[in-house]
Amino acid sequence: MNGMEDLEGGLKRLKLRRVRELLESDAGREGLARFKDPISLVAYLVNEEVAARDATQRDIRLRAAKFPGRKTLDDFDFGAQPAVNEARVRMLASLDFVRSAENVVFLGPSGVGKTHLAVALGYAAVEAGLNVRFTTAQELTDNLYASLADGNLKRELERYGKFDLLIIDELGFLSLDKTASNHFFQVINQAYERQAVIVTSNRPFQEWSGVFHDSVIVTAILDRLLHHAHLFNLKGDSYRLKNHLKRDGKEVTPLA
Ligand SMILES: Nc1ncnc2c1ncn2[C@@H]1O[C@H](COP(=O)(O)OP(=O)(O)OP(=O)(O)O)[C@@H](O)[C@H]1O
Ligand SMILES: [Mg+2]
Repeated sequence: MNGMEDLEGGLKRLKLRRVRELLESDAGREGLARFKDPISLVAYLVNEEVAARDATQRDIRLRAAKFPGRKTLDDFDFGAQPAVNEARVRMLASLDFVRSAENVVFLGPSGVGKTHLAVALGYAAVEAGLNVRFTTAQELTDNLYASLADGNLKRELERYGKFDLLIIDELGFLSLDKTASNHFFQVINQAYERQAVIVTSNRPFQEWSGVFHDSVIVTAILDRLLHHAHLFNLKGDSYRLKNHLKRDGKEVTPLA
């Protein structure tokens, strides 16, 4: 046994992967040779290991979140969406609403940035070390339907409940039948004052009775969702359409 093998074995047992990497590569070893002071050397190694583990955990959280793509608040053109107060959204990005299990609702027509803002807040939460899950109302209720058939409904509901922030996109594109409405209620009820939820919908609240199976359930859902909620009404023409029509250098009024 030589010293290097013992060291490698020890690093493996302690799962210090980043430290091992640094010792195994020439560039890594050269980097370490710069340190004359042992405390600075140890501090460097510890920092490297901590940073590598943080990055791995972040990647795991990011994959678990299942975002449809990357969106940030910095790519959001607040000038194009004057109905949304930038300072209010930036305040949400401090993520106090997640820590206090409050909700956010983005309402508005197609293409105005509801999913963009929801995902941007979700990304910020992942970066801040929080556990996030993005889904659509359709996917959520389909999934709960399937788990009901498999006898796993309770477990599946609990899985959704474990995230610090649950994002439910596209509520209202399709109406939900009695079972799906009940499942949706159970998700919101379980989250109430325990877990933050972001909901986006292209339908105003008055039309939610057409989304769910009965009006009692709509009242119960709205009651819980809106008790501690930050509400945004987005307005205007679709940004998708605007961008599309701007291509070729021509600006055309979208479907005036
Ligand atoms: N103000 C904006 N600044 C920058 N990009 C925007 C803005 N509004 C929308 N977008 C972009 O336009 C596209 C459509 O926006 P988004 O998907 O958020 O719309 P939506 O409100 O969720 O619409 P839908 O109800 O159809 O789902 C996305 O690519 C989004 O990034
Ligand atoms: Mg959307």
